[in-house]
Order: sequence, then structure tokens, then C-alpha cells
Amino acid sequence: MPLAAIESLETPIPVVDLDRLDANLARMARYAAAHRLALRPHVKTHKAPRVARAQLAAGAVGLTCATPRELEVMATVAPPSLLLAYPPIGAGRIRRLMTLPPEVPLRVALDSPEAVAALAAAARDHDRTVAVLVEVDLGMGRVGVGSPEALVDLARRVAATSPLRFEGVAFYPGHLRDTTESSESGWQRLCTDLGARLEALDRAGLAPATVSGGSTPTAWRSHELLGLNEMRPGTYVYNDRATVVAGAAGRDDCALTVLATVVSTAVAGQVVVDAGTKSLGREPRGGDGDWGFGELLDRPEVRVRAMSEEHGILDLSTTSWRPRVGDRVRIIPNHVCIVTHLFDEVAGVRGDAVVERWAVAARGRG
Ligand SMILES: Cc1ncc(COP(=O)(O)O)c(C=O)c1O
Repeated sequence: MPLAAIESLETPIPVVDLDRLDANLARMARYAAAHRLALRPHVKTHKAPRVARAQLAAGAVGLTCATPRELEVMATVAPPSLLLAYPPIGAGRIRRLMTLPPEVPLRVALDSPEAVAALAAAARDHDRTVAVLVEVDLGMGRVGVGSPEALVDLARRVAATSPLRFEGVAFYPGHLRDTTESSESGWQRLCTDLGARLEALDRAGLAPATVSGGSTPTAWRSHELLGLNEMRPGTYVYNDRATVVAGAAGRDDCALTVLATVVSTAVAGQVVVDAGTKSLGREPRGGDGDWGFGELLDRPEVRVRAMSEEHGILDLSTTSWRPRVGDRVRIIPNHVCIVTHLFDEVAGVRGDAVVERWAVAARGRG
């Protein structure tokens, strides 16, 4: 039984097309299974037990988290094996990691001797074993040790530090934003650099059990990365304008839109909706100067040209459509993970019927 019609929702609110969500989950699960890759999705895109459960039901081996709040909420699901793909630095972060339920198997990616020491001390205090992935930087320049030698040094240190267990290597190729020919050299470089690091570990007698990496833009080429055996896409559950530009999904695969209401048509050439930066984020990713901050689901030519906190300005110069005050629109955001983080609740729809609502339980810091 539908809960309500979509028109009855108070705006702004993120609306998830459940048919598209189901298809996105199934497509990635099929890809991972076909290539014998473990799928450990990053939960930052949905931050919701509802979606995490669906990912695990579709075959995910565990979940990837970035924040203590995500870990705590996701520990209530299943309980799955959890990977903290974020440096375990800071007393609060480590305490919250260690006080997760003991039956939750823990993995942590790290890139410093300080992190090894702090994590090992806390694991000893809490009588826990922690599997460690050494983070390597393969071009993004964010976190991760640089050279093969630095990787071997840190891996040796982990292997020698009880109760940590050296599990393998993690990387995030967030610098490769598309899968087109123009990024081919970047892709080849990634393959070579990963290969060099895995060889160095092999030579040192530290062959990794897990080689974990990937993103949504690079997801469909994961099988080309020799040695990779775990993939961690996050955005694929909902997709967004950036994912479409990256060539990793079609426009029809965008599952989350922000439902908004036209609140003013007073200024010529534009209309104002009740979704501004506090609904869409301010993410100018992936396009040219006219890219804007979102586009309408039913009218791709109409973009969010400018925003205030609670106002989104739709540019009417590209369309003959003339909406009226009170009309509803659905906006595909530039970067969906930010949108998720801005709302307490999401509505799940099939067609025009709201059939579910769920809490974005892992948003915020907790
Ligand atoms: C460490 C890490 N792994 C995996 C992902 C997932 O990548 P994507 O959002 O492209 O799916 C991210 C995204 O930020 C990340 O930071």
C-alpha cells in the first residue's frame, strides 16, 4: 500500500526512485560477481541502514565507512565487516572505533606510523584484533604513502605490531573522474603504479590478502586492475550529474532527486524553488561555466543557475516552459552524497507513490 502520493510530500525532500535504486544495486553486484571481486560499498552516499541492508543482500562482503557515526550506525546492520577508510587519528575517533560491538570484524586503512601505534595501543586495551590495510597514494594526492618502499616499510611495521594484522592495501583513485579516452593515460598509470607496489610487497614476503580500491567513475574497469580483489564504489547507488558526465551511469540511472516547490516567479526569466545550498550543496563539479548546481529530471535543459541558502534559481532562458507558483520539480543534483548529508529523511517512490520513508541515520557526527 502506498503511504502517500508524491504531491503530498513537504518540500524540499530527497526522493529516491526505488526501481532505479534496485537496478543500480543489482548492476554493480552482477559486475562484481562476474569478475570475482568482493564488493564493499562506501556508505557515505546513502548513510542509511535501509540501503546498506539491500547492498549486503545483493552480495556485498561488508561496508566501507569514513566517520565514527557511519561505523556506529552500520554496525547495527547484520553485523557486517566494516572498513574504516579514513586515517584512525584522534582519541575520540579511535575510542568510537574500539567500542563498536565486539562481533563486528574491523578493518582500518592507514598511512602513518603514528596511526599504527595509536591503533595498536587501543586494540590491546580493548582486546580486539584489527585487520589493517596500508593506504597508498596512486595519484590522487590526498592520503596514502607514496613509494613502494614506503609501503613495504609501513606494511612491515603493521605486521610486527600485535594485535594488528597486516591485511593488504587500499587506494582511492578519486583523481580519475571519467572513463573516457582522455583519461586513458591516467588509467594506465594507475595500473602500472599499483602493479609496482604489489610486486614490492611480494618481494618483501608481504603478499596482501586484500587489495581494495576504486570509485564509481572507475568501477566498471575494476577488473582491468591486476591484483585488485575488492571494490568500494559508493555513489553508484544513486548516481548524479557528475557520475553521468563521467560516463559511469546514464541519466536514467540517477535514482535520487530533490523534490522542490516553485515559490516565486516574480523576476522575469527565472523561477525560484525552495531548494538552495542547504538542499543541493554548492558543488560545481564536472562541467563548463553554464553547468549550474543541478538540472530538472523532466527537463534536462533547465538548470539551477544560482542559489542562496534556501533559494534555488532556475534559469528559464533555455526553455519555453513557464511554471507557476506552487508547481513541483525534481532536481538531479551535481553531487548526491552531499545532498544525502543535508537531510534527515528520504522518501522512496515507485512511480508517483511514496511507498517508504527512511532516516539518513548516519548523517552528522553523532
Ligand atoms: C576512500 C574512498 N573509497 C571509496 C569511495 C567511493 O567512491 P565514489 O563516491 O566515486 O563511488 C570514496 C569516495 O569518496 C572514498 O573516499
